[in-house]
Amino acid sequence: MFGGRLTHSMIERHAMLLLLLALLTVSIGGIIEIVPLFTIETTVEHVQGVRPYTPLELAGRNIYVREGCYLCHSQQIRSLRDEVERYGHYSLAAESMYDHPFQWGSKRIGPDLARVGGKYSNDWHYAHLQNPQALVPESLMPRYEFLASTYIDANTIADHLRTNRMVGVPYSDEEIAAAQDDLLAQSTPGADTTALLKRYPKANMVPGAAGRPTELDALIAYLQVLGTMVNFADTSTETLKQ
Ligand code: HEC
Repeated sequence: MFGGRLTHSMIERHAMLLLLLALLTVSIGGIIEIVPLFTIETTVEHVQGVRPYTPLELAGRNIYVREGCYLCHSQQIRSLRDEVERYGHYSLAAESMYDHPFQWGSKRIGPDLARVGGKYSNDWHYAHLQNPQALVPESLMPRYEFLASTYIDANTIADHLRTNRMVGVPYSDEEIAAAQDDLLAQSTPGADTTALLKRYPKANMVPGAAGRPTELDALIAYLQVLGTMVNFADTSTETLKQ
């Protein structure tokens, strides 16, 4: 077939030739799959409503990571019927695009928290995190009452925003400059929140102590925003794409 130059039996008898040709054949599939990915900036489609965390939410998220909440709670609703009926719309990749590192988790000793935002009042969270068994007697969750007497260091929050920007979260210079003010505005009852809400729509106020948010305040601000950024109410995921 190849005019006697490159026959099947020839290839089979030369290990190196067989190896080279096998590699060439296999790599074609790889190239077709991988090369197009280099030409697009991201594989995660942006979805309307998803925004970076407010400084207070980010501080709360740091507490969530530090305390290892992900060891008992996942943040990823799979597209299976039982999950969607229990927790709500399945998680979209875009919903964790600003999470570094993501908190999908792989264990559910407690329920999934991807859409826990708005499910309970702030008061419920304050009571539950300090003493879960007071609200859910059979709960296995540890008490985190110490978070109510440990404080967020507002002076370092701008650095946290800056660090997140280094790994791709689009915090602007203006947001970084205002980080400390925004952190306090979200946790001070009666504070002027106009600028905060303009920068971060749907930020949830927490009733912290004026000028000195606790780690518990921050953690609750974070929990209350989980899963609430995208409005799934009357529109399909297809139309949410920007
Ligand atoms: C040892 C495992 C464990 C750890 C660690 C843990 N939890 Fe839980 N969590 C549970 C269990 C079990 C429940 C269900 C019973 C209950 O509501 O207390 C729960 C429930 C919750 C709920 C209510 C969810 C719902 O939809 O009803 C929230 C919110 C929550 N946990 C937040 C946290 C946060 C924040 C942390 C970290 C500071 C944390 N948990 C750490 C086990 C854990």
